[in-house]
Amino acid sequence: MIRTPQRVVLSLFFVAAAVVWPGARATAQGAAGTQQAAYTRDQAEAGAAVYRQTCAECHLANLRGSFEAPDLSGPSFRDGWRAATVADLLDLIRETMPPDAPRTLSEQQAASVAAYLLRENGVSPADTPLSLASPGRAFAAGDISATGATNAARPPVPGRIGTVPSPEALAEAGENRLVKLRLGYRAAYVARTARIVAEGGLSLLALREVGYQEAKSALLELPGVGEKVADCVLLFSLEKLEAFPVDVWVRRTLEERYLGGEKRPPKALAAWARDRFGRHGGYAQQYLFHRGRSEARRG
Ligand code: HEC
Repeated sequence: MIRTPQRVVLSLFFVAAAVVWPGARATAQGAAGTQQAAYTRDQAEAGAAVYRQTCAECHLANLRGSFEAPDLSGPSFRDGWRAATVADLLDLIRETMPPDAPRTLSEQQAASVAAYLLRENGVSPADTPLSLASPGRAFAAGDISATGATNAARPPVPGRIGTVPSPEALAEAGENRLVKLRLGYRAAYVARTARIVAEGGLSLLALREVGYQEAKSALLELPGVGEKVADCVLLFSLEKLEAFPVDVWVRRTLEERYLGGEKRPPKALAAWARDRFGRHGGYAQQYLFHRGRSEARRG
């Protein structure tokens, strides 16, 4: 479980929209040009050794990744980094990898391991070594403008830092940009909520420390946040396991299985369910949701 405000904003996303967000790292691309960053053959060779020693344990010797450590070769890795500068990649490696000992690689080691990643992703070696000051992109081939924006976009992945824009980034992007990313009517809400959080108007993490009702009241103050979204955020990010989000599936299942077909408004249903299922009601909600949806799918 990662404890960051991004995660909270992320849940807002998951319940509100399927968001496609071109990597925040893409922002520097203009300045660095669009050419492929260079590395040398020897460098990649040295990088292979660094990789085996410090990275393979999680990302595996074949770079396919394991558990939460993502694959570092193949289309999804390349697409994720295509719009980014090689400096961004180096920066991420130096600042965050390996996760249990970040900033322990020397500049040379970081550059060589990045060179190795480029090689393993099909970039050919050249005469100029890769360094922290190298210009160019991590993967220039198949430019975004050529392949279409969706290829360069990477959806937020729960628990994966760097795939989820921060409240600050969202606030800075602003409503117009979010509209372009197809958030539709939600763009205004996300932009305003992001601004409130980025400017310190509400500490999302602090809501973990208060009770369910108090946290919920605070969330309901945010633009565009209603009962269901608030309950999702409370359950999935703020560890309020008694939260019981009621959507159409859960509503149907509760009414059919527990209430003999009686209809009740969602808010009343949620209160009934919190009472009935108690402090771990959120788990019951997940089972009921799953059941409701699978039955509906089977028809
Ligand atoms: C203890 C396990 C572990 C080790 C060791 C490790 N990583 Fe990672 N790496 C992860 C995890 C987990 C993530 C995803 C987490 C995240 O996004 O915060 C990740 C993410 C990455 C990413 C971003 C991938 C992407 O595009 O999302 C890169 C690049 C990376 N690691 C490179 C390295 C390199 C290079 C090394 C060795 C110097 C290394 N890692 C060592 C666990 C590890």
